[in-house]
Amino acid sequence: MFPVAGLGSRFLPATKSIPKEMLVVVDKPLIQYAVEEAKAAGIERFIFVTSQGKSAIEDHFDRLPLLEQTLEKRKKINLLSKIIETALPPSQAIYVRQPFPLGLGHAILCAQHLIQEEAFAVILADDIILSQKSCMKQMIESYRPGDGNMVATMMVEPEHVSRYGILTVESEEDKKVRASAVVEKPTLEDAPSRFAVIGRYILKKSIFGFLDRQNPGAGSEIQLTDSIQKMIPETALTGFSFDGERYDCGTKEGWLEANIAFACQDENMLSYLGPMLRRYALAHDF
Ligand code: UTP
Repeated sequence: MFPVAGLGSRFLPATKSIPKEMLVVVDKPLIQYAVEEAKAAGIERFIFVTSQGKSAIEDHFDRLPLLEQTLEKRKKINLLSKIIETALPPSQAIYVRQPFPLGLGHAILCAQHLIQEEAFAVILADDIILSQKSCMKQMIESYRPGDGNMVATMMVEPEHVSRYGILTVESEEDKKVRASAVVEKPTLEDAPSRFAVIGRYILKKSIFGFLDRQNPGAGSEIQLTDSIQKMIPETALTGFSFDGERYDCGTKEGWLEANIAFACQDENMLSYLGPMLRRYALAHDF
């Protein structure tokens, strides 16, 4: 499930008419990275929780017959196969609306009727993860029934804890952190650890009963974290320390860094990126 119904206000005015999830990192929109990560994890059914003004996301995953014909006529076969690969078959893509931006927990609740499985994966497209193995694949491979709700986690700087859900660590083994609690956006003084929740989840279907009764929390939004916390007595909470670098593309700094990091993956781009960055570093003395 991809909740993509947020306002994206930190990226205004860019997000006035373009969904945040359609912001481009090098040559692909954020949401495409998220779908590719899910596909690499073996996922075959993609639910997008959208809202008004987000139709560009549906268009992006659709076939575009006119463009395809034109590229074919012009013998641009590489580009043609790229845009065909991007499309999702109608049987695999489902779009559902969140009528009001009431928070991530509420967005997930809007897709309740589409989930039959015991557990389902959630990916937040604005967290982009550069890794050898898809982060969601790592999570699914390591998931065991006793893990309950699983969240991706990473250590963050103390001054950043107030931006995240933070885990209270009960025990730590290998890549897994067993958490006895999670708190959304604590102050530095109140933060129980520096283990932050990142936008990848494997959630038990039973979460819907909790989301349905959840009162608004931090930011007056229905917070997913609050329902995960309420489930803990009966459903474990496991943090998974993934291998890879994560970039918060919901912020300008994170988005800019993601562009540099992904450009560095491409030898062609690297050949001009290095001299380009050195030129700016010299000119601006950083
Ligand atoms: P964010 O906390 O980044 O909120 O949402 P936002 O509205 O997208 O951005 P800002 O804070 O205004 O800049 C995290 C994820 O949850 C989704 C967003 O689309 C994003 O993927 N979300 C958030 C929803 O789908 N619905 C909501 O009501 C809130």
